[in-house]
Amino acid sequence: MAVFAGARNIRLRRMTSLDLPEVLAIERRSFPNPWPPATFEGEIQNLGLSHPVVAVDEEADRVAGYIIYWVIRDEAQINNIAVHPDYRRRRIAENMLRRVLDALKNEGIQFVTLEVRAGNAGARALYDKLGFKPIGLRKEYYTNPVEDAVVMSLMFGSAGTSGS
Ligand SMILES: CC(C)(COP(=O)(O)OP(=O)(O)OC[C@H]1O[C@@H](n2cnc3c(N)ncnc32)[C@H](O)[C@@H]1OP(=O)(O)O)[C@@H](O)C(=O)NCCC(=O)NCCS
Repeated sequence: MAVFAGARNIRLRRMTSLDLPEVLAIERRSFPNPWPPATFEGEIQNLGLSHPVVAVDEEADRVAGYIIYWVIRDEAQINNIAVHPDYRRRRIAENMLRRVLDALKNEGIQFVTLEVRAGNAGARALYDKLGFKPIGLRKEYYTNPVEDAVVMSLMFGSAGTSGS
């Protein structure tokens, strides 16, 4: 799967253990409570449930970002998404999500959920743009700092994911 982001050719493929040094570096720069290496290893090994995907800048041979989602029967859950600070605001996250959402829709998945820090304005704007709607709040769900999680959902067949 190729995604055009600015002047770069970005390709999506399944994450492997060889990607972990770059993925962990992005994770640490992206979250106050980064997932530990064992959690990523677990996702990579969890072939039945988990879909860990990296977005690779082929020209520079660098991991630009990643997304990890689970498919459970007719439901999918986005568990992690991050883009390296050097690659942000070039629609890499948007394109990763659009690709994933299109694939899920084609597989017959009915709805997709995710959680986001209430104060994460950039991520919330991204999910709004793709048609996700807030459906609930988990009070003080996150630590460092303590913050509510907004639960968001996208139902296929209603808002859709079309657009640029
Ligand atoms: C959130 C994140 C994944 C966005 O990645 P990105 O590749 O920079 O985002 P995109 O360029 O694809 O942005 C697409 C849309 O999202 C919104 N958006 C993204 N970042 C934004 C920001 N910092 N401020 C406001 N809106 C933002 C905009 O609507 C944007 O559309 P536009 O280009 O038409 O303005 C990235 O900032 C990141 O890795 N943050 C740290 C990790 C994180 O918070 N992950 C989400 C956890 S729920």
